[in-house]
Amino acid sequence: MPGSSTVLVTGAAGFIGSHTCVELLEHGQEIVLVDNYSNSSPEAVERIAKVAGRPPAAVYEADLLDRRALGKVFEAHSFDAVIHFAAKKAVGESVEQPVDYYDTNVGGTTALLRAMHDHGVRRLVFSSSCSIYGDATKVPLTESDPARPTNPYATSKWLCEQVLSDVCRRLPELSVLALRYFNPVGAHPSGLLGEVPHGVPDNVMPYIAQVAAGRLGRLKIFGDDYPTPDGTGVRDYIHVMDVAEGHRVALDHLDDERGMRVLNLGTGRGTSVRQLLAAFADVCGAPIPYEITGRRPGDVAELVADPTAVARAWGWATTRDLTAMVEDAWRFQQINPSGYGN
Ligand code: NAD
Ligand code: WQD
Repeated sequence: MPGSSTVLVTGAAGFIGSHTCVELLEHGQEIVLVDNYSNSSPEAVERIAKVAGRPPAAVYEADLLDRRALGKVFEAHSFDAVIHFAAKKAVGESVEQPVDYYDTNVGGTTALLRAMHDHGVRRLVFSSSCSIYGDATKVPLTESDPARPTNPYATSKWLCEQVLSDVCRRLPELSVLALRYFNPVGAHPSGLLGEVPHGVPDNVMPYIAQVAAGRLGRLKIFGDDYPTPDGTGVRDYIHVMDVAEGHRVALDHLDDERGMRVLNLGTGRGTSVRQLLAAFADVCGAPIPYEITGRRPGDVAELVADPTAVARAWGWATTRDLTAMVEDAWRFQQINPSGYGN
């Protein structure tokens, strides 16, 4: 990890960004944070510094779509690389508000590229998503499997990958890594950082955590008639600390080759909703109430990563198992019953 270089982190106060900032600070990396707090709060930045034991070099409240504000950030620092987390990420909301999703996710990425280009910054790690595989016909999924995005959120990520790939073809000095995360869950083991959904969680892990804590009545299992071993949806849950570590390692490999590279970030292990519920019940010591309801529109049966490419490229693999994911999510829920606001 280069001690003297500085990395810009966009969307730094969010779920994955905040954990990655801690990982980078703890490994001696200087970082500059940008967030507009549209889906996070400045409290996350306070906690990043507390957990890491030292503050970032600078923190900016700025919207990526505000090109003047973004330009000022690039003028004030000399960046060695950028990690670009900032985006809108709720699949259901993206169906209702497609323009907002293309504006923020694609427009935010091109605004960032513009600023990087203007200031000679040529290395980027981009947050992509397993959702671009859509209704996959086979698992595990390799990076060369076809993209079939089925909603504006997933399409926005796919479009970003296309833009980055095309720009890289034409500007050979660029190095871009697009990391397709599967289902990041869990929290920092300190219990100080975690996932803070606004309102009722869309995603299964924070939903189960709130049921276990008595804040929600019961989990609705969205369908038990999928062609999976127990009929419930299967996903590749990955500990957010493994995702964070993956970004630290990615920075060390940006220069392995010029151009655009796409890599899955997953464990290669599938877990069904029923298995996740059972693991949570084990950890919290009580059964979790649930009911079976109909399928959620747009859901797919199974999404599991083939993590071979990242292992080959970096000699790296995830290390945290499902129990660690659940234990850390549960600890965070207990310590922060109302998120960062309590
Ligand atoms: P998050 O919402 O917690 O974090 C995103 C951060 O970006 C937030 O702090 C938000 O305030 C900020 N932001 C949004 N729009 C902005 C803008 N225009 N300008 C500046 N800041 C802005 O989401 P996350 O779970 O940490 O996800 C991080 C990235 O990873 C996103 O790009 C997301 O699409 C991608 N991703 C997430 C998952 C997941 O399940 N969490 C899976 C695959 C990919
Ligand atoms: C997981 C499983 C549900 C909630 C989402 C995004 C994807 C990516 C990761 C950003 C499924 C079931 C869920 C509930 C349930 N994010 N479920 N009851 O949909 O796999 O992926 O996060 O890039 O783009 O779509 O995650 O946690 O919502 O669902 O039964 O209340 O849990 O059907 O099988 P998903 P999830």
